[in-house]
Amino acid sequence: MSGKLRLAGVIGHPILHSKSPRLHGHWLKRYGIDGHYIPMDVAPDDLARTIELLPRLGFAGINVTLPHKEAVMALCDEITPRAKAVGAVNTVIFQEDGSVLGDNTDGYGFMANLYAGAPSWRADMGPAVVLGAGGAARGVVAALLDAGAPHIILSNRTVERATALQSEFGTRVVVSAWDDVGDAIKGANLLVNTTSLGMDGQPALPVSLDHLGSETLVTDIVYAPLKTQLLIDAAARGCAVVDGLGMLLHQAAPGFEAWFGQKPIVDDELRDAVLS
Ligand code: ATR
Repeated sequence: MSGKLRLAGVIGHPILHSKSPRLHGHWLKRYGIDGHYIPMDVAPDDLARTIELLPRLGFAGINVTLPHKEAVMALCDEITPRAKAVGAVNTVIFQEDGSVLGDNTDGYGFMANLYAGAPSWRADMGPAVVLGAGGAARGVVAALLDAGAPHIILSNRTVERATALQSEFGTRVVVSAWDDVGDAIKGANLLVNTTSLGMDGQPALPVSLDHLGSETLVTDIVYAPLKTQLLIDAAARGCAVVDGLGMLLHQAAPGFEAWFGQKPIVDDELRDAVLS
């Protein structure tokens, strides 16, 4: 590694609550890299100028969070297939030739978290049930289809949003009515909550787990609290459970490697650093 100072960061609006600076800061220290990862509050009107300016200031790339994940796509010269599939970019790489590459690592982070937390589980072993139909659900559905899930049962309070996602992703996605999803869970290979329900300050997930069998892996993309009521109830029924924090940690790894030239590891030390 050269002695050159390396810069990366995250842009969002607001940016105060982002955990990414702590996460990347931990890795920079751990690997002794001469670099900084800087949170930047960028208003929508300043997005284009910022993307133009940062590489000139020496930035190797940035993470992109709300509300810029879709808008930044128009400012990229190249977009990876997985970012195209999701319709959003969360990782930008300013390449040596001056071009701007947009990637989306959320789906990678989601799958890597499951494989790390449940090593004997595989996506192709059976159907997955996905709760929710927002941006997060879109990323999860794309990742599961790509990983070989035979089909996905999608359920959302507002059924039109689930139907819209179904028409985007095709026949491997089936829609289940929100009120009936408790039945659809029976025999699932995976149950994922992508809604905000169960988060600190939000109502609990109103889904019956009576038909949930111990063969189903259960995960929540919510990580505050770390153990949501869904995960507590599923574990009590004998299910393997994986919390959502690992998704945040794993999705950060490809960007760190691209910007700082070091493949980072996700372990308990990192979890503790991000939670402290
Ligand atoms: P994100 O991009 O994080 O997925 P979003 O697009 O706002 O955010 O989606 C939030 C998800 O949580 C949606 O699936 C939403 O359901 P609706 O499409 O019906 O709004 C779901 N959600 C939020 N509050 C809910 C509630 N009280 N009951 C049921 N679902 C809820």
